[in-house]
Amino acid sequence: SYEGEEVVRAPVVSVMGHVDHGKTSLLDYIRRTKVAAGESGGITQHIGAYHVETDHGMVSFLDTPGHAAFTAMRARGAQCTDIVILVVAADDGVMPQTEEAVHHARSAGVPVVVAVNKIDKEAADPDRVKNELSALDVIPEDWGGDVQFVNVSAHTGQGIDELIDAVLLQAEILELKAVKDVPAKGVVVESSLDRGRGSVATVLVQNGTLRQGDIVIAGMHFGKVRAMLDEAGAKVDGAGPSIPVEILGLNGTPDAGDDFFVVPDERKAREVANFRMGKFRTERIERQQS
Ligand code: GTP
Ligand code: NA
Ligand code: MG
Repeated sequence: SYEGEEVVRAPVVSVMGHVDHGKTSLLDYIRRTKVAAGESGGITQHIGAYHVETDHGMVSFLDTPGHAAFTAMRARGAQCTDIVILVVAADDGVMPQTEEAVHHARSAGVPVVVAVNKIDKEAADPDRVKNELSALDVIPEDWGGDVQFVNVSAHTGQGIDELIDAVLLQAEILELKAVKDVPAKGVVVESSLDRGRGSVATVLVQNGTLRQGDIVIAGMHFGKVRAMLDEAGAKVDGAGPSIPVEILGLNGTPDAGDDFFVVPDERKAREVANFRMGKFRTERIERQQS
């Protein structure tokens, strides 16, 4: 089989942090200002992942509320995040879920870039954040450590370009590579059943290129990719490495963290899916009996 050439791929970034420290606001700001409005009239749909083109390169963001998806993916061994943006509110400092996020990132071996958010607030105290994170061994570069800290405001937009540059710098160090011209494989970010459209799954392509018409396995499910949509809901023909995309056509709803990959034909897809389904049932029965 043809082995395609390795190309540099965009970093896949998860935004984590304590409740109300501004993860969604930060992503919203980036989405609003950096994601080009699609032909369908802008960003109307929510999808759990999107990518932005910047002057210095592309970044893909996984919008994972809470740590559930990250943990699920980690538990399945699917290393789908390259970099964690750890959001810490400058007026609140390090909180239990901040600490938890640090531990998640560390045990997954994923580097962290710290976004010290809400810097616009009167009570903002970025040095306190540096102190508290240093105590967890997350030490800022300007204090002799190797972690980039960027002061930002998801309200005013201050520091956001700098934050994206910090992520891209971290990505450069990681030398992220993938092969473009092979059948796609990757990970499921989320999926749901839509009244009109049936199964809708957001998948992140990690290697290869996914195309409309491809036959895919996703967890225990399979199907022919009937349509592919980007974060703006616009139809796309293909998605390469690090690109998240919504796919229609699966015969069920795979879980976050499930793997997906392209197979040669529908017979093979059915065979693998049935095998996995059978294995799953057996394991469940064994669990119930023990
Ligand atoms: P959860 O998903 O519930 O954990 O919260 P979150 O981390 O996504 O925080 P969210 O974006 O919902 O923001 C929480 C609150 O903080 C909202 O009222 C935001 O408007 C406010 N907020 C977020 N970022 C900023 C900021 O940079 N400056 C100020 N002043 N307020 C902010
Ligand atoms: Na919130
Ligand atoms: Mg949120």
